Amino acid sequence: MTKHCNLFPTPLWRVNLGDIDYNKELENFILNKSKTTETVYKTNSNGGWQSNNLLEEHVFSKLKQRISTYLQTLNLNILKVNYINLWCNINYKNSYNIIHNHGDHEFAIIYYVKCPEKSGELVLRDPRTGFIGKWGTDYAKNIHNLYNQDMIIELDIKDGDLIIFPGFLDHYVKPSASNNKRISIALDCYCEYF
Ligand SMILES: [Fe+2]
Repeated sequence: MTKHCNLFPTPLWRVNLGDIDYNKELENFILNKSKTTETVYKTNSNGGWQSNNLLEEHVFSKLKQRISTYLQTLNLNILKVNYINLWCNINYKNSYNIIHNHGDHEFAIIYYVKCPEKSGELVLRDPRTGFIGKWGTDYAKNIHNLYNQDMIIELDIKDGDLIIFPGFLDHYVKPSASNNKRISIALDCYCEYF
């Protein structure tokens, strides 16, 4: 009897925090910061602004708390979440973020303060290099279709969305076609477990 298994799935969690008042507070803080601080250059391209590490700013305490609480609901036996970095991004029209990953950090976390329509999809790339090289192409459709997915997956993001995935997963942000600003907060963390 033939057995067929799909091996090595990659987890991603998403939830909408839906706190409009707090989002406004975050937006104001980030916009003010961008007016008084030069951008750093990490993944931002074509005019986008990125902050340095703002982990200790008081305005983010509630966000960190909410993310920790959410992570602890995921049945992953997480006792405590330790944040390493927190930085903010503003993408203007035509801004994008080049492909990158969050290295050996356990979780990459992105919170979307504002994500207007067409302001740049978040794109995740299959982390299996072999899949990218051969299996993710059309050269063998029947094999490719076993996975029912492409080598990249685009996520449609809404204001207030929280996205969490393993730090090793490559991702990028497509150029914004919107006249409105796209504002996000990225964090890295590691966890202590029961
Ligand atoms: Fe990232």
